[in-house]
Amino acid sequence: MEFYDVVASRYSCRRYLDRPVEEATLLRILEAARLAPSANNRQESRFVVVRDPETREALKEAAHGQSFVAEAPVVVVACAETDERVMSSGFRADVVDVTIAMEHVALAATAEGLGTCWIGAFDQEPVRRAIGAPDSVPIVHLMTLGYPADEPRLKSRLPLDILYMPERYRADR
Ligand SMILES: Cc1cc2nc3c(=O)[nH]c(=O)nc-3n(C[C@H](O)[C@H](O)[C@H](O)COP(=O)(O)O)c2cc1C
Repeated sequence: MEFYDVVASRYSCRRYLDRPVEEATLLRILEAARLAPSANNRQESRFVVVRDPETREALKEAAHGQSFVAEAPVVVVACAETDERVMSSGFRADVVDVTIAMEHVALAATAEGLGTCWIGAFDQEPVRRAIGAPDSVPIVHLMTLGYPADEPRLKSRLPLDILYMPERYRADR
């Protein structure tokens, strides 16, 4: 799939077929995550790939009962091995880096014909318990992955002339 078609066809998929994701497909997707940039090339992102139904059920509970988290055949738990460094911009490098890598995952999965959904509504502690991660490991995102059983919806987005400001910030828009 051409790059801009991939970008346009990614959507939040919340219904999945009961069809496993092939290991080779998953490895190609994770390779896309591995190639993602990171601040100072520190490469703190880690990806726990959950297929086990009991663990997915525990992740669903941690994600405030969002049922499709247990229904998706794969849930990627995106975390960091980190010293929690704050960049001079004021933002934590690990959170930015893991997020970039996970967008690579989302786009690569789309190119493979898979559906994905970002999950930000979850509690840290039960996710750590479910995957056996120590307290020092922040869980940055969950992402469901699988063959879609729903259809993309029309995207609701602001027009480009709101987002795009040539040269100067304009607050009067
Ligand atoms: C950081 C982040 C966290 C999100 N968390 C959730 C979530 O917990 N549950 C959910 O159903 N969707 C979640 N979403 C999906 C958004 O609602 C969705 O991306 C947005 O409505 C735009 O729709 P689209 O992804 O179909 O283009 C999240 C998206 C992002 C980027």
